[in-house]
Amino acid sequence: MSTIDAETLRSWLEEGKQVIVLDIRLAADRATWAIPGSLHIDAYADLKAHNAHALDGVSLPADVPVVTVCNSGYTSQIASKQLKARGIEAHSLEGGMQAWSLSWNTADISVPGSDAQVIQIRRVGKGCLSYLIGSEKETVVIDASLKPEVYMSIASSHGWSIAAVLDTHIHADHLSRSRVLAELSGATVYLPNQERVMYAFTPLRHGSIIKIGEASLMVIQTPGHTAESMSYLLDRQALFTGDTLFLQGVGRPDLHATTEETRLHAQLLHHSLHHHLLLLPARTLVLPGHTNTPTPFDKIPLTATLGDLRNKVELLRLPESEFVDALVARIPPVPPNHERIIELNEAGSLIENPIELEAGANNCAIP
Ligand SMILES: [Fe+2]
Repeated sequence: MSTIDAETLRSWLEEGKQVIVLDIRLAADRATWAIPGSLHIDAYADLKAHNAHALDGVSLPADVPVVTVCNSGYTSQIASKQLKARGIEAHSLEGGMQAWSLSWNTADISVPGSDAQVIQIRRVGKGCLSYLIGSEKETVVIDASLKPEVYMSIASSHGWSIAAVLDTHIHADHLSRSRVLAELSGATVYLPNQERVMYAFTPLRHGSIIKIGEASLMVIQTPGHTAESMSYLLDRQALFTGDTLFLQGVGRPDLHATTEETRLHAQLLHHSLHHHLLLLPARTLVLPGHTNTPTPFDKIPLTATLGDLRNKVELLRLPESEFVDALVARIPPVPPNHERIIELNEAGSLIENPIELEAGANNCAIP
């Protein structure tokens, strides 16, 4: 039996190695999240039943390795065994999609008008986006959602030391790695000013400025998705919007809120968008905190200008009352375990194995 771990598959895809990823899960499971570029065969029930002909319907080249994938890495072993019997080099992904949830890739972003270098780190197994902004010998990390070593090794490969880590808000879909990253790298933790987080941090207020080498990051208070949400403007050119504004929509206003508070948060979000973010120049690059589809290993940044989003995202054109009604009507299912995740993020605790806690669809945006 041959298996490979998620990190090996991640590096194969990053290197552009020829490999076929064969997803054998039920179509409903695949609809929630998938590995970019993977093929799907609806053979789950047949494989579970050990039907020797379960994969007869899929034609695969004999000379390209195949990685079989299921939810947790068991049924995919049956599939890889059947492919091996056909003479194909096949490996089963250890831990399946659960283990894949920690996979990531990067894209470099050049920001016209700024000398800072921005790297977008995409947690492709879940859709969380974090950023490194480097200038001179320093870098800051925004919304760390992967193990600290990922950010530390990218920083050191650019000759940067991590001076600061920032979160845009208290996350509900993943555990923030910011506190641990700061401890390991000796960086300062900056968080939006609020009284929920129980560990020591430097509070950010509307108009605060953080210097990174030659670059500067200005804090814009943008409540709505959560009461404390903030956006960060780099050199007046690029806007890190967290979960306030996405490339396909806006942030949900209902987490950690009652029904009445949800409407109030939606009003606040409308105000944040129209009285702060959308007043910035149309050329401003928007760099959001999440994407709702698996990001390919193509090194193409996920970004758009504010001008593009004004035209593309219908919600941004609605007056306040219609905006609030539309948001409330379109609220997606709540992320599983979000209450426990919020609790851990307020305490600053990172559990040993967060995979199961963080599992589930990425439902942060309202399109
Ligand atoms: Fe969020």
